[in-house]
Amino acid sequence: MEKFIPVVVIKELSEVDTILPALAYSGIHTAEITFRTACAKEAIAYAKKNYPDMEIGAGTVINRQQCEDALEAGATFIVSPGFSPSVAALCCDKEIPYYPGCVTPTEIMAALEYGITTVKFFPANIYGGLKALKALSAPFPQIRFIPTGGVYRSNLDEFLAFDKIAAVGGSFFVKEALEAYQKKGE
Ligand code: 3PG
Repeated sequence: MEKFIPVVVIKELSEVDTILPALAYSGIHTAEITFRTACAKEAIAYAKKNYPDMEIGAGTVINRQQCEDALEAGATFIVSPGFSPSVAALCCDKEIPYYPGCVTPTEIMAALEYGITTVKFFPANIYGGLKALKALSAPFPQIRFIPTGGVYRSNLDEFLAFDKIAAVGGSFFVKEALEAYQKKGE
């Protein structure tokens, strides 16, 4: 897993051809394409076909149907804002990494029951940030976190310095990459 997971929202398919090259230019070869838009499934399939060197996952997957769609489109990892037992069961069955949003001990325990040991921590800034992650790591030393939501360039290093951080996620990676890519073209 790469250390940076950009949260990507594709409103129109053509945006894939802007955002993915920009991310790659910034050295990021992963994209979490979110099921927040109607074209998410299509965007994942298109990204998989046209950007074979990138790892394409699905984000904001909140039910089994979306998970089925994401896997059909070729997503190689699944992210949810919360914990979904039906998504966990499907991913477990298909041996696809699933990173559910878990911010409480109960949610982490639910994930562990499916053998999940890497979870999204969302929204990281609201649920106590690094301080909360450190407290949760005491009873759950086997868990690695992906803090997302309110993670920015300015606080990224604080998170990454903690050894229980698997990666950090955020939409700001996309914004930054697009700006850098645009500047290169000027
Ligand atoms: C997500 O779904 O992971 C979040 O929308 C990302 O949060 P951010 O926009 O604060 O990075």
